[in-house]
Amino acid sequence: MSDPIREDGLYPMRLQRFLARAGVASRRGSERLMTAGRVRVNGAVVTELGSKVDPASDVVTVDGAVCRIAERPCHLMLYKPAGYLTTMSDPHGRPTVADLVPVAERPGLYPVGRLDLDTTGLLLFTTAGELGQALLHPSHHVTKHYVALVSGTPDEGDLGRLRAGVRLEDGPAAPAEAELLSPSDPLFSLVAPRGAGRTGGGEPNAVVGLTIHEGRKHQVKKMMQAVGHRVLRLHRDAFGPLVLTGVAEGSWRELTEAETAAVEAVARGEG
Ligand code: URA
Repeated sequence: MSDPIREDGLYPMRLQRFLARAGVASRRGSERLMTAGRVRVNGAVVTELGSKVDPASDVVTVDGAVCRIAERPCHLMLYKPAGYLTTMSDPHGRPTVADLVPVAERPGLYPVGRLDLDTTGLLLFTTAGELGQALLHPSHHVTKHYVALVSGTPDEGDLGRLRAGVRLEDGPAAPAEAELLSPSDPLFSLVAPRGAGRTGGGEPNAVVGLTIHEGRKHQVKKMMQAVGHRVLRLHRDAFGPLVLTGVAEGSWRELTEAETAAVEAVARGEG
């Protein structure tokens, strides 16, 4: 019989999953804590990996510290600045997006997908693992809108190739929506703050708006490169039904109820 799902979203689960959701360690790391005898449930040491706990009633401790998981999932959007890695920890101590979101208050938060070090814009975080995985699943074709400052000026032929599905090294990209943005477009100044026309070196450039439905590594940069234009700056202003609004660069905010309902619908395949 499957676990009954309760209104608080918590249900009996394997202890290592509980520990991972509580942000104590990865599942593998949690298993190691268990087998080392550092985990207790209601005061008794539990080393058996299949053991289950009820988050609503059992008291779980690691080395004596009580662990809890958030009762309701937390979803938030970060306006990622350039210069932050999309990872929750970096062995070399470089700045990461984890420095910018409330990991202590909301253990288990993780980014849904990734933005390159130099890419700015909307990065969704959630404590709900299933939701994040569903949004990233290729079958859901979650749309992402990017604004790119590029070298040169793509002509109709270049835009047509992007719209048809340009060929990349790892296989063809799905057809994208692509358009040149004019300086009067509010998104234009996000990547070309001093106006387009020339980069510092005097190279002519333009701003392209791109909607894609895939999430391959460096996808936009590779697509633009494939049609002969280097991405000089890249910003994501929309992810699925979410639009980057009401949040300053380097800050985050929780999703509104309407936004939460909209992402949950997309994750169910209804978006
Ligand atoms: N495509 C890229 O090339 N980089 C990003 O950060 C996101 C999409």
